[in-house]
Amino acid sequence: MKSVRLIASALLLVTVGSYSIPFADPIVKMYTESEMAHLTCSEQFDEHIEILSINYTNGICIHNETFGVKNICNGKTNCSFNVSNINIGSSCGAKGSATLQVEYDCIRNGGWSDWNTSASCQVTCGGAFRNVTRTCSNPYPNEGGSACTGNAFDEQPCNTNNCIDQDSACLDTPINWNCTNGYIEVNKAVWEASRLCNDGYTSFISHNVIKRMQTRCNNRTTCLFTANDHTFGVSCSTLNSRCTIFEYVYTCIKAAWDDWSSWSECTKSCGSGIQTRKRQCLNQMNTTDGHTTDCEGNGTGSRSCNTDLCPYCHDNKFQYTSIQSDLKADNSSGSGYLMLNGIYTLTCCGRIKMWEIIPVNTGRLTFLIMRKTSNNKYKCVGSNQIKISAKDLRKSKQFNVSEDKRIVITQGDIIGWFDSGNNIVGFLDCLSINQTCPLSYRLNSNVGEGDIIDTESLRSTSDRSYYVEYSTSENRPITFYLPSKPITIPDHLNIDSIVMTVPIYDPDYGDYIHDVKLDYDNEYFYFDTKLRSVHVKKTLPHVVGQRNSTFNIVLTFEDSCFNFASANITITSFNAPPEVSGFTDELIIDPSKLSNDSRFHIFIVQDPSDENISCGMKSASHSIEMFGLEMKDNDAYLRVSNHSAISNYSSSEYELVIFCDDGTDETIFKLTVLIRSAENDQPIDIISTDKTDLHVVIIGVCASVSVLFVILFILALIRNCQSQHSTKEKSERGLNTDLSTIDKTAKPNPYIEMEQVVVQQKANASVETPAVCNH
Ligand SMILES: *[C@@H]1O[C@H](CO)[C@@H](O)[C@H](O)[C@H]1NC(C)=O
Ligand SMILES: *[C@@H]1O[C@H](CO)[C@@H](O)[C@H](O)[C@H]1NC(C)=O
Ligand SMILES: *[C@@H]1O[C@H](CO)[C@@H](O)[C@H](O)[C@H]1NC(C)=O
Ligand SMILES: *[C@@H]1O[C@H](CO)[C@@H](O)[C@H](O)[C@H]1NC(C)=O
Ligand SMILES: *[C@@H]1O[C@H](CO)[C@@H](O)[C@H](O)[C@H]1NC(C)=O
Ligand SMILES: *[C@@H]1O[C@H](CO)[C@@H](O)[C@H](O)[C@H]1NC(C)=O
Ligand SMILES: *[C@@H]1O[C@H](CO)[C@@H](O)[C@H](O)[C@H]1NC(C)=O
Ligand SMILES: *[C@@H]1O[C@H](CO)[C@@H](O)[C@H](O)[C@H]1NC(C)=O
Ligand SMILES: *[C@@H]1O[C@H](CO)[C@@H](O)[C@H](O)[C@H]1NC(C)=O
Ligand SMILES: *[C@@H]1O[C@H](CO)[C@@H](O)[C@H](O)[C@H]1NC(C)=O
Ligand SMILES: *[C@@H]1O[C@H](CO)[C@@H](O)[C@H](O)[C@H]1NC(C)=O
Ligand SMILES: *[C@@H]1O[C@H](CO)[C@@H](O)[C@H](O)[C@H]1NC(C)=O
Repeated sequence: MKSVRLIASALLLVTVGSYSIPFADPIVKMYTESEMAHLTCSEQFDEHIEILSINYTNGICIHNETFGVKNICNGKTNCSFNVSNINIGSSCGAKGSATLQVEYDCIRNGGWSDWNTSASCQVTCGGAFRNVTRTCSNPYPNEGGSACTGNAFDEQPCNTNNCIDQDSACLDTPINWNCTNGYIEVNKAVWEASRLCNDGYTSFISHNVIKRMQTRCNNRTTCLFTANDHTFGVSCSTLNSRCTIFEYVYTCIKAAWDDWSSWSECTKSCGSGIQTRKRQCLNQMNTTDGHTTDCEGNGTGSRSCNTDLCPYCHDNKFQYTSIQSDLKADNSSGSGYLMLNGIYTLTCCGRIKMWEIIPVNTGRLTFLIMRKTSNNKYKCVGSNQIKISAKDLRKSKQFNVSEDKRIVITQGDIIGWFDSGNNIVGFLDCLSINQTCPLSYRLNSNVGEGDIIDTESLRSTSDRSYYVEYSTSENRPITFYLPSKPITIPDHLNIDSIVMTVPIYDPDYGDYIHDVKLDYDNEYFYFDTKLRSVHVKKTLPHVVGQRNSTFNIVLTFEDSCFNFASANITITSFNAPPEVSGFTDELIIDPSKLSNDSRFHIFIVQDPSDENISCGMKSASHSIEMFGLEMKDNDAYLRVSNHSAISNYSSSEYELVIFCDDGTDETIFKLTVLIRSAENDQPIDIISTDKTDLHVVIIGVCASVSVLFVILFILALIRNCQSQHSTKEKSERGLNTDLSTIDKTAKPNPYIEMEQVVVQQKANASVETPAVCNH
């Protein structure tokens, strides 16, 4: 009855690089129904089964979906199962005389040999490094097996044992203990005298001075002293002695690496995880004379692991059509189950597009997908609700899930469900169907998305197999859209300022963003994973004379199916030109109200990048001879420089072209000055202060609605060059200085009416700044 045919297992050898990969034909086995199938691979090399194909034939019905057998065997060194409809997941019907042909590979991953440490060590004590090698030969990977990850070459410490220095010295010899890259530990220090030297030396006085020398030299890198009574604090060099000798032993203790720990568990079971190992630096010390002994190299090592891509679930479905009539109704109390293994633990990723059950009771049923958090806790990441009516009972019932309600699943997720206690889902005694029995936890109450369940607090059973099936659709990668133009930002943005948001589009609704990596080395920007936006990490570089800087950042997103999406973003930062506030585009001056050197207008110039600004006037008409511009910190003053000349023009108009330059950019703006005599009898505010060293005169000629203009002059005669204080003092005095008082705390607002042009600074452009009164 039992007919196992081993069709082929011929070994071919293909030479690849320095070693040979055994090329094995797949193993093919043949079984008949009700027989136990045993698929085996070599245990010695930890080989694992990978099912290639099956051919399950019962009369004219042929089933070749491998999933059922894969579920039982894949990844195992050996597996056994009863050849039946149920285990194979076919719908060819039970109780036939079916045959099963299985084709599988034994996959052997490569393993490292021990390190070959035959290279000589450069030192005999104190530690050095030597080159070591290893090969991926223990075992060699076979076809389909993964090569070893990690380096075949390394440098490892050798002869790290301490060096011992042993010697003696005569009276008054200077001694220099020197323990480069280590520290001294005194092991012996004896100060002794003998009546004879050389061969006849026998000490007659002997002092153990180890305590004193330890206090003096231990934990130091170098220790310098002279061998004499004074140093050792004992009298030894007596009249009777011919020879006085200091005998000593000290050890240089150097830092050295301890052995590596073993590699940590891989952070992922597929899709490229990371594992790390550590080693300790032994004998690290900050020596008392200010040196540091330290190990060279890195105390942590890491490598990538499980680099295979995670499999997608491809529309898989289990078929248990033969067992419908045997299904039992659960009569235990509680509202549902979490299923921990068997077909209920997902080994692939995708989205659930259909649920299938054979209901034994009516009511509302909610399916759950739970994801492991930590400490045996599970978080509900999605749910689908269905309704069972009387006509659905005891029939295989499929429920399609609409696109937007499909739950995204990933490896390690488990399935669960709950109802209102009416126990809708039927089950079979697990043992009767000879399956791997799943562990199930009885839920006490309903579970909502986001709820975290501690399975340890739940009752468990492992004697039943519930009829719950699912089929899946693919999880599609996330995408994110970025503007086609480079992002442009001013270079004075504060730390944490937002640079841009990154809109993420997830076609699968329920996908979660598994990982976001802004290349962490990025000096100037970081990514806020919650807000999904790029922010300034560090003050942006600013080079005077250089208008723009360009940065590239790379964003990488990974979704729950380990799909990657990444993009390069180019950010350009530009120098912000000086900003001017408190400026007007037209001024009217009454020459008769001006005195020599009088200032008639003040405005504030600020640079967003906090640079020094210089302002000046460009030649336009006669204005350059007539007017002057002075700067004091951020305040700029316009004054009449040729008073007598201006008095001759009782009615004329000048256009002043003023530029302010921060060394990189120039802001240019224009001002029209009208010279008019105050012929209208408008009240003139002349305010003079009683402060002896400061006279502020404001002349305002206000033209009301009926009159033409508002003329407001500031005449600031500031003795002792205290112009810096003038605006402040004026405002402190509450003067009506609409035009001249400028609130220094106010934000500089860009001109609306004034033409403001930014031009690029020419190299070596000389800026003529009117003399500023420096006190
Ligand atoms: C396999 O299962 C069938 C039906 O469930 C049973 O009759 C048969 O004895 C089983 N075979 C073995 C070897 O256990
Ligand atoms: C499957 O097996 C049947 C019976 O052994 C055989 O007739 C058929 O050709 C096989 N099909 C394939 C695709 O191997
Ligand atoms: C299964 O059989 C069908 C029809 O015989 C064939 O089209 C399909 O490629 C086969 N699938 C596999 C995985 O062998
Ligand atoms: C199958 O593999 C398991 C370990 O995975 C081992 O304990 C067992 O003895 C193996 N059985 C056979 C028949 O090789
Ligand atoms: C190890 O080998 C490399 C390359 O052959 C060499 O540059 C290096 O100096 C060697 N290191 C030691 C400790 O010998
Ligand atoms: C100790 O020895 C090293 C090299 O052997 C030398 O560079 C250093 O100057 C010495 N230090 C003292 C304090 O003698
Ligand atoms: C040397 O350093 C070690 C560790 O820091 C300390 O335990 C020991 O007391 C020190 N010895 C002396 C003599 O300072
Ligand atoms: C040595 O001193 C530095 C600076 O104080 C400290 O950071 C370091 O941890 C110390 N190392 C040891 C081994 O004590
Ligand atoms: C040590 O290795 C870790 C992980 O590989 C790395 O993050 C770290 O920057 C390395 N440190 C040094 C000092 O090379
Ligand atoms: C279950 O399988 C075992 C062999 O693994 C067999 O001895 C036993 O009879 C089977 N039980 C049933 C009910 O099929
Ligand atoms: C600097 O940036 C500004 C503003 O984005 C842009 O208009 C200009 O073309 C850039 N200049 C250079 C040289 O990149
Ligand atoms: C981003 O830039 C790096 C190097 O500049 C390049 O290797 C990588 O392919 C780019 N990635 C994308 C998504 O453009």
